[in-house]
Amino acid sequence: MQTSTTSKLLVSDIASSVDRVPSSYIRQISDRPNISDVDIFGDSIPLIDLQELYGPSRANIIHQFAHACSSYSFFQIKNHGVPEKTIERMMTVAREFFHQPESERVKHYSADTKKTTRLSTSFNVGSEKVSNWRDFLRLHCLPIEDFINEWPSHPVSFREITAEYATSVRALVLILLEAISESLGLEKDRVSNTLGKHGQHMALNYYPPCPQPDLTFGLPGHKDPNLITVLLQDEVSGLQVFKDGKWIAVHPIPNTFIVNMGDQMQVISNDKYKSVLHRAVVNSDKERISIPTFYCPSFDAVVGPQQELINEEEDSPAIYRSFTYAEYYEKFWDRALATESCIDTFKISKT
Ligand code: OGA
Ligand code: NI
Repeated sequence: MQTSTTSKLLVSDIASSVDRVPSSYIRQISDRPNISDVDIFGDSIPLIDLQELYGPSRANIIHQFAHACSSYSFFQIKNHGVPEKTIERMMTVAREFFHQPESERVKHYSADTKKTTRLSTSFNVGSEKVSNWRDFLRLHCLPIEDFINEWPSHPVSFREITAEYATSVRALVLILLEAISESLGLEKDRVSNTLGKHGQHMALNYYPPCPQPDLTFGLPGHKDPNLITVLLQDEVSGLQVFKDGKWIAVHPIPNTFIVNMGDQMQVISNDKYKSVLHRAVVNSDKERISIPTFYCPSFDAVVGPQQELINEEEDSPAIYRSFTYAEYYEKFWDRALATESCIDTFKISKT
């Protein structure tokens, strides 16, 4: 018997009952994850070991940050200080969340991008034309006590484990922000000081197995709107990063995080560290879970290029006007992913 897919809110509840991708997920031929565009075994993104960051070789590691941020905008980190157990518990509870019955999951469903806790599907069901093979739970998590009571209460350990994970990843982010700030030649607390009260959001991305993975994306090419993203992924590949005209596949390494620059870093650094296109592809036999932490300014923070990185005489004028993160964030969600870059609308026009 063919079950109806049209009444389903989430792709998880469609995936298991179809042997073809429904037409709303099928992309035009020119816009598919063409395997010949992808470098699967070649270049990879840098791996930075944070073990010695507070030792005598700090300068060397800061140099590695400068290289990774300016050449790739993406890197992996090991010896990052987030306990293995915390990571494992987070991944397990995320999987348990998405394996709950549909009736339990849909309680959290909302298409309203302004909601601080919500389960949704694809990217932005309100603005996009083609759907993506992804469900996601989005959470705000700073300060935790303002949001924890909105988070799912099932699985029963969800709130406790997620709070522990968010706290631990935040401590790591603060270390990364100092290193990135120094690598730009700025005081180590400068980047952190531009973020107002700071913001931290998380997504739990769930990509079910897909019967025709070459017709659709988990997430199409996009740039993250926030400052930096710290991504945890399970052992299934899917992430690809755009570099020198090619997509590079980033294969998971256990107990590492992937860090990437977002639009706010590009603005603050006045284009020294660019926000970079990346995407997620799906596959036909394994579900995939990824858990990005999006670190960002608080909504009231005013963001703009840092004075030291602007030099009118040497031909590096300010490229962006200042704005509040609230203004940026609203624009980001208002436009469909991957069409037009949000950051361009904040550029100072040359006269
Ligand atoms: C994102 C993202 C990549 C992945 O959620 O913004 O880029 O591998 N995710 O899931
Ligand atoms: Ni992203």
